Amino acid sequence: MIKLQSVSKTYKDGDQTVHAVNDVSLEVGAGDFVSVVGHSGSGKTTLLSLMGGLTKPQSGSVTIGGTEIWSLPDDDLSAFRNKNVNFIFQFASLVPTLTCLENVLLPTAFGKSGDGLVDYARTLLEMVGLKDKTNSYPSRLSGGQQRRVAIARAFINSPRVILADEPTGDLDETTESEIMEIFRKKCADGTTFVIVTHNSSLAAEAKSRYRMHAGRLERAS
Ligand SMILES: Nc1ncnc2c1ncn2[C@@H]1O[C@H](COP(=O)(O)OP(=O)(O)O)[C@@H](O)[C@H]1O
Ligand SMILES: [Mg+2]
Repeated sequence: MIKLQSVSKTYKDGDQTVHAVNDVSLEVGAGDFVSVVGHSGSGKTTLLSLMGGLTKPQSGSVTIGGTEIWSLPDDDLSAFRNKNVNFIFQFASLVPTLTCLENVLLPTAFGKSGDGLVDYARTLLEMVGLKDKTNSYPSRLSGGQQRRVAIARAFINSPRVILADEPTGDLDETTESEIMEIFRKKCADGTTFVIVTHNSSLAAEAKSRYRMHAGRLERAS
């Protein structure tokens, strides 16, 4: 599904070079559930954005579903990404002038359209426990509720891969385990998950467990 081969990404910080991701190879199969833990600054977010084609590596190759993504023309790359990969970012970024329902539907404005999407968006909001906030604006929601809307939004295009950066970071324990239950169900249905987390019990549930350390990826036991 996703294959990284000797991928490196460095950033220039003044006269220093930061090896955010350093020669990482990783293969994630369809339907896998992968967790990545590591200290802050170890390169987890950079790794996810490399896996999803948001960041171009200085070296190495990134293949998603057999397609070498950096060989695609720019326009094709964004369409390909929109169709295949979805991100749940560390900080929920909802559009404040749209209702929760409209926020969940937003990714469909660029992709597929069709009947049933509005119903599906409602179902997703119900799935994350926010049925009663369907027509509310994000400013009326707590941080954790906004995060749940962002999680619902990540599923609207039925992506094959979900890349989640600390998806439950600001959620209470009950909501966190509900969200994990949703991820498990979606994974059983065939969605591939890569989850960056600080929560070790959450990480331990994953089928494949990794740790980032100073840009290097290692297997975690
Ligand atoms: N856009 C950027 N410009 C410069 N340095 C960056 C940038 N993004 C990340 N870094 C650096 O790369 C390293 C890895 O960052 P990141 O991938 O965000 O780690 P993590 O998600 O594990 O906290 C850090 O040292 C960070 O300061
Ligand atoms: Mg990060």
